[in-house]
Amino acid sequence: MNAVTTLTVEDGVAVVTIDSPPVNALSAPVREGLKAAFAQAEGDDAVRAIVLACAGRTFIAGADIREFDSELVGPHLHDVQAVIEASTKPTVAAIHGTALGGGLEVALCCHFRVAVPSARVGLPEVALGLLPGAGGTQRLPRLAGVPAALDMMVGGRPIRADKACELGIIDKIVPEGELLAEAVSYARKAADAGTKLVRVRDRSEGLAQDTGPEVFAEFRKKHARAFHGFKAPANIVKAVEAAVALPFDEGFKREGELFEELVHSNESKAQRYQFFAERETAKIPDIPKDMPHIPVKSVGVIGAGTMGGGIAMNFLNIGLPVTIVEAKQEVLDRGVATIRKNYQITVDKGRMTAEQLDERMGLLKPSLAMDDLAQVDLIIEAVFEKLELKQEIFGKLDGIARPDAILASNTSFLDVDAIAAATQRPETVVGMHFFSPANVMKLLEVVRGEKSSDSVVATAMAVGRRIGKVAVLSRVCDGFIANRMMAPRMEAAQALILEGPMPSQVDKAMVAYGFPMGPFAMLDLVGLDVIGWDAATSSSSTVTEVLCEMGRWGQKKSGGFYDYDEKRRPSPSPVADQVVRDFQAKSGKQHREFSEREIVERLLFPVVNEGAKLLDEGIAIRASDVDVALVYGYGWPVFTGGPLFWADIVGLDRVIAGLEAAGHEPAPLLERIAADGRKLHQYQVA
Ligand code: COA
Repeated sequence: MNAVTTLTVEDGVAVVTIDSPPVNALSAPVREGLKAAFAQAEGDDAVRAIVLACAGRTFIAGADIREFDSELVGPHLHDVQAVIEASTKPTVAAIHGTALGGGLEVALCCHFRVAVPSARVGLPEVALGLLPGAGGTQRLPRLAGVPAALDMMVGGRPIRADKACELGIIDKIVPEGELLAEAVSYARKAADAGTKLVRVRDRSEGLAQDTGPEVFAEFRKKHARAFHGFKAPANIVKAVEAAVALPFDEGFKREGELFEELVHSNESKAQRYQFFAERETAKIPDIPKDMPHIPVKSVGVIGAGTMGGGIAMNFLNIGLPVTIVEAKQEVLDRGVATIRKNYQITVDKGRMTAEQLDERMGLLKPSLAMDDLAQVDLIIEAVFEKLELKQEIFGKLDGIARPDAILASNTSFLDVDAIAAATQRPETVVGMHFFSPANVMKLLEVVRGEKSSDSVVATAMAVGRRIGKVAVLSRVCDGFIANRMMAPRMEAAQALILEGPMPSQVDKAMVAYGFPMGPFAMLDLVGLDVIGWDAATSSSSTVTEVLCEMGRWGQKKSGGFYDYDEKRRPSPSPVADQVVRDFQAKSGKQHREFSEREIVERLLFPVVNEGAKLLDEGIAIRASDVDVALVYGYGWPVFTGGPLFWADIVGLDRVIAGLEAAGHEPAPLLERIAADGRKLHQYQVA
């Protein structure tokens, strides 16, 4: 039919095949091909049934996300679907890989769907700040029922073929490798038997129960917190309400209106930007894509503390043997016990079997001897943050590890080059900075030292992806990307409470912005005593120092900036608030009320400024890497796109004026980009 679509007819069954790598997204040529092929098959008297199949790794994985930002070219997907759905001959979608978004919505316009067991189907548009706008919100509940459809569309996670079959989304599971033959046979049988053809839009089995207003009310209540700041979930719920209350055509129209609201929203633009930004992180301009990787089949971790244990779990999870080394038996035992306990929690939640727990623990080799790391491919050091200690360890490793082994440090701010200099092979040394808890947090910063070889860097990035992380490349600097970016927020928060707002107000503004917690609640969680406080030199010169001197070290002492009950629930602390007021009185600053917006800008504009500085220094490759790092490393709300995307939404002129008003010097790069009318989030280091 065209470059990406073929139509073949064999023995009365037409097969429409889409072949548009990498993921058969519904680009204009795919839509044109589909429409023409189904129209031709419908008009061909020799055709009695039609199968829709895809070549390559997957069924249609959705709309072409890049098209949302441009004028529509070619037929609208709705028109393509109308042609498919109008077929008077049995139509069967043959699903392998992932039928996602528009892909599943096209499949729902066929009369039947067959899939291989490894296939998954889903409507993940919510992750892009959208709703399924090609009838998904109307057709899915008609098959799967309202509760399941809401879960699938608001959660966004694809489900397995067997589950989809249970829910009536898929009609038959067929053996792997026999998908096309089985789909053709299914279609032919339907034609032979004269099976009554009912379009999904005309079906209603899913709407037979659980459609009352209380179902929606409960769903909204249950997810209120998770919905905060996002626009799409609420619109999805509204669209499903319309599916229940209105005839198909009217519900479909309502879906369209709700979709339009979303597609032009900043929230969705931000999430679409993040989708591509996340994938972009893997691309390193000066390292070719085909750079050979060093095979990593075994791992060593030095340090069995919280960090080391969490790091080890990442590799045990993907079936790699891990040797974990500690200096003292007692610490080693405790570390191993913690790993087991963490897995046990997963088992208790039903997300892992006891056998899997045993398998993973079976891959863990605890040791007191660094010599046991002589044969491993990748060694990650995760000991206390002290340069001399790390240098000593790397010096020793130099004599123990295989010459081609990768030596990584999990340092969070130390100079990776100085650590590498302790070895005779600095080209094998790299930073691999995990975020706590290391088995959970998705960000991995790979820190490229002055002498790290290209293949070591490429391998570390690939290893990150293998263990399910988003790996972002950073050059060496104090704090690398994420921690360095967030330090100014903390400084600004500490300064701001001297001008009027109380810590709880500052935190509230940050939570309203979309952060999981504010800076003061975070300090209480981490411990005020461990962020650079020294009892010996403490001189009551800051609020934090005074709180530390009073023994208010945070949650662990039942009090810091807040008071905590035995369940670690916070409440405002009259004692801490008095300390703040005393400092306010002494500060000599004009005190006043601050709006939430002012608080947000006072805290976050300096973060944007720091981003511009580190881009100018070449620490990150591109602005979007910085945004990805903050979203995955610090819970920066994804619907803002990250600090640099957000800065463009707010307007760089406003950012610069805000910085100046608060006494900060705007970064030269920020001023240059603003003067040229460019976008900060599109900046790439040359
Ligand atoms: N539109 C445009 N490009 C898409 C795309 C889409 N719907 N889905 C994937 N791509 C691109 C990616 O950007 C990537 O491009 P790159 O190689 O230039 O970086 C490439 O296809 C491969 O995608 P990737 O995610 O790296 O592959 P994967 O095998 O890990 O995952 C999917 C495949 C389909 C599961 C995943 O890409 C995905 O979830 N896509 C989005 C699906 C979706 O949201 N559909 C609804 C759209 S409304």
